[in-house]
Amino acid sequence: MRLSHLYLRAVIFLFISSANLVSEDKFIEVLTPQENRLQTELTLNVVVKADKKSVDAIKIASPLGVIDINLDNSREMQCKNISLRLGENRVVIRSYKNKILVDEKTRDVYVASQLYHQFKYPPQKYSKSYFHNDTNEKSCASCHNMSVNEVKGVAFVDVTKSNCYSCHKNITKEKYAHAPAANWLCTSCHDKKNQSKYLTQEPVNGSCFECHEENQELWSAAKYHHEPLDSGDCSRCHNPHASPYAMFIRKEVNEICLGCHKEQNSRAREKERSGCMGVDESQKCTSCHTPHASNQPFFLKKMVNKVIK
Ligand code: HEC
Ligand code: HEC
Ligand code: HEC
Ligand code: HEC
Ligand code: HEC
Ligand code: HEC
Ligand code: HEC
Repeated sequence: MRLSHLYLRAVIFLFISSANLVSEDKFIEVLTPQENRLQTELTLNVVVKADKKSVDAIKIASPLGVIDINLDNSREMQCKNISLRLGENRVVIRSYKNKILVDEKTRDVYVASQLYHQFKYPPQKYSKSYFHNDTNEKSCASCHNMSVNEVKGVAFVDVTKSNCYSCHKNITKEKYAHAPAANWLCTSCHDKKNQSKYLTQEPVNGSCFECHEENQELWSAAKYHHEPLDSGDCSRCHNPHASPYAMFIRKEVNEICLGCHKEQNSRAREKERSGCMGVDESQKCTSCHTPHASNQPFFLKKMVNKVIK
């Protein structure tokens, strides 16, 4: 082969490789999350496929900070479970080679909450999407076991043996974890299939009452029902997995109530002269009201009724 041919080949090779440098997916491909994702949990999985030749470090920036992924060169997929805040989260995945930024991919994720007016109505660009279908699971199945390995009603002796644990471990990492979630019996509620293999019943109270029969009996017999209870969506106030507050409520008791009952704020109440006696902010709303249902008007606990009279 003549020298000029070799030279030409080298030039062509260089041309092709620099052309590839411009092509976006040469560095990393983001498998999850998808763009403009809407969700309700505060944890998110970030999984990227990185080209080891052109990337040697990845950083994930979110409103809660920057996380380094030290690339494990023995595998093609790099995975991280990160935490988010309520509302808009811009997740930026930056790839580096020799400390130089070579690629940047952005994913916007919105964490919605029924309990805060400002996080109740996500901007229109966000939409809910589901992960657990055969196509998505295929890209994980070479390393993760994607099947269900729980036995109904039997807690795991070692929860890390649950197949769900490897990707969702942070979902129960709060001070108060709900028994079925803490024992990784995830399909005791996620037992419906449609767009995802792990949907819950709508409304979810049917699942709750399978185990909390006594509450169902008590409440269905009660004369007065709180509207959010009758909506059947217990997860408006309770996080079904875990939370920093007792009974897995999503915020402190008074904050939960005042989120929907702004007029019960004590100063506003003085003006409006509502009949509510809960003027003192150091008192819990639940010292007088039950959040669910009661035979007393205004869901008052009986004791309070006596106090009034
Ligand atoms: C090539 C093998 C491989 C593939 C493919 C793979 N993973 Fe992983 N993943 C691992 C290994 C090994 C770990 C445990 C070590 C670690 O935490 O990095 C892990 C850990 C995780 C974690 C926990 C990370 C953390 O912060 O502790 C999540 C979440 C995860 N994977 C999600 C996924 C998802 C979703 C897919 C498919 C889109 C996937 N993985 C595909 C190998 C893989
Ligand atoms: C390989 C990682 C992986 C494993 C294993 C895994 N999941 Fe997931 N799961 C995900 C990802 C990624 C999402 C998207 C949401 C996110 O990023 O947290 C998700 C979302 C979900 C959702 C929300 C609905 C949906 O389809 O998006 C439920 C419910 C769920 N997983 C339950 C389970 C249960 C139950 C198991 C065990 C049988 C399990 N997951 C095992 C990665 C995994
Ligand atoms: C007591 C019932 C219950 C159990 C047990 C339970 N979940 Fe859930 N899960 C729910 C409900 C209800 C929702 C929807 C919450 C909402 O609307 O905010 C949900 C939502 C989710 C989501 C998606 C949240 C989002 O951001 O859209 C994931 C992921 C999830 N569950 C994973 C799990 C895993 C993993 C387990 C096992 C450790 C588990 N769940 C156990 C009831 C349950
Ligand atoms: C698979 C059975 C099961 C399902 C389904 C279930 N729970 Fe539970 N729940 C339990 C167990 C077990 C406990 C702990 C024992 C107890 O205190 O009753 C518990 C405790 C609780 C507590 C705390 C009670 C206390 O006094 O500390 C709340 C609140 C609760 N569950 C709400 C719910 C809601 C809301 C749902 C539906 C989204 C639900 N549960 C679905 C089994 C279940
Ligand atoms: C309006 C908010 C709200 C809704 C909706 C709600 N809860 Fe509760 N729940 C609470 C609060 C707050 C507490 C804690 C009460 C306390 O501190 O005295 C609680 C306590 C509980 C308890 C333990 C105490 C008890 O009364 O037995 C259970 C069990 C429970 N809830 C189940 C449910 C189920 C099941 C649903 C849906 C059918 C539901 N909750 C809907 C706010 C709510
Ligand atoms: C998710 C929103 C929401 C939350 C959280 C909530 N409520 Fe309510 N509440 C309602 C709605 C809706 C009604 C029925 C409409 C109305 O009368 O305001 C209602 C009605 C009431 C009433 C009867 C009002 C009347 O005039 O008959 C009382 C009392 C009450 N709630 C107390 C509470 C307490 C105490 C808490 C906290 C444990 C709480 N609520 C949490 C939405 C909520
Ligand atoms: C000391 C007992 C007590 C406490 C604490 C209390 N309430 Fe009340 N609340 C009452 C009584 C009694 C009524 C019934 C008033 C009537 O008969 O008109 C009432 C009525 C209400 C009503 C019905 C509408 C109205 O304004 O009359 C709402 C809503 C309400 N309370 C919400 C709350 C919230 C939210 C909290 C916590 C910030 C709270 N209450 C704390 C005793 C209390």
